[in-house]
Amino acid sequence: MQPMLANRRILLIIGGGIAAYKSLDLIRRLRERGAQVRCILTRAGHEFVTPLSVSALCGERVFTDLFDPHSEFDVGHIRMARDTDLVVVAPATADLMAKMSGGHADDLASIVLLATDKPVLLAPAMNPRMWDHHATQRNVAQLGADGIRMIGPNDGEMAESGERGVGRMAEPLEIVAAIEGLFAKPGAGKPLAGRRLLVTSGPTHEPIDPVRYLANRSSGKQGHAIAAAAALAGAEVTLVSGPVHLPDPAGAKTIRVTTARDMLAAVEKALPADAAIFAAAVADWGIAAPDQQKIKKNKGGLPSLPLVENPDILATVAHLKSNRPKLVIGFAAETEKVIEHAKAKLRSKGCDWIVANDVSPQGGVMGGDRNTVHLVTDNGVESWPPQTKAEVARALVARVAEALGGERP
Ligand code: C5P
Repeated sequence: MQPMLANRRILLIIGGGIAAYKSLDLIRRLRERGAQVRCILTRAGHEFVTPLSVSALCGERVFTDLFDPHSEFDVGHIRMARDTDLVVVAPATADLMAKMSGGHADDLASIVLLATDKPVLLAPAMNPRMWDHHATQRNVAQLGADGIRMIGPNDGEMAESGERGVGRMAEPLEIVAAIEGLFAKPGAGKPLAGRRLLVTSGPTHEPIDPVRYLANRSSGKQGHAIAAAAALAGAEVTLVSGPVHLPDPAGAKTIRVTTARDMLAAVEKALPADAAIFAAAVADWGIAAPDQQKIKKNKGGLPSLPLVENPDILATVAHLKSNRPKLVIGFAAETEKVIEHAKAKLRSKGCDWIVANDVSPQGGVMGGDRNTVHLVTDNGVESWPPQTKAEVARALVARVAEALGGERP
């Protein structure tokens, strides 16, 4: 099979921001997928990565300056703007976006952006206050109206200041997925087009008092990867997620919830769906009567925390009389007798498939990037090889598409 981006020509403009280091990885990832990558490093970009490292990775000389006689002679900025299939700006700084929005053209990057007739994808990266500023938001709206595509920025910790907020550049693999999406032929690689998928992900937090809660070690990585893969496969995806430190997956509608009860309510609201995948690690119990005030230490011994059983979201949806998705898929995270427990769960929950995995601490699945799963259905058990959570997600989504295939609307 040809790599996804075989012979695609990508012009990557690297702006001046600490996230420029991620663009080095982006070049690698794009070339791994067969793309030809030509790079422009802005003057500010220079301060963060060197032309030598950029050219070593893209395998070409790097273009850095409008008045570089070599680039004028060899390529020319107008040709550079046109001899490509896509222009990607990563990191796209507040300044570069302001220039683009105003149509400025005073250096190689901004001239190329004004001269190109090809699609442009921006991966913004900046301090959260700069992102939130009216001026930046005005520019974002203007660029969107001008047909410029954007991926991110994500919510999270800033590399330089440790501040949290929206402003982190999207991860290289997210940018690659967005680029692949732009190049995908309409309908091609979209086996879930016209389908609605519901995915749950992450842990739930069950409040004890305003500052404490019961939780578990779920990172949400597997559920989020499934939502992203389903969106890439063309599905209309609603992701209902408990508290996680992950960006919302591109292309999915993400609803953030805290408790199991909130999760059930959001799931019921998101129905109907063609398929529902329950990857969340829902707390089995909540606190019967969470305290409205912080419980004080040393006030009459240890507090007692009576528990109540939480609703089983998977079983509830699997037993719906109306609105039941055609395919209801549960997860079974086990630490022993994985397949035996998964088979029992298939029956007790009333779902169609169970994805079972071993989450013993030595396996590193909880919070890790890899997963070894078994697909348990009425037809038997398929054991998949160890792979990344993104690969598990793609394989599962492919199976869902196959199972729904015959009844495409
Ligand atoms: O019973 P157990 O927690 O092992 O079942 C796991 C499966 O059930 C997962 O798919 C999980 O998302 C789902 N589940 C749920 N609601 C609960 C408990 C589990 O949807 N309260």
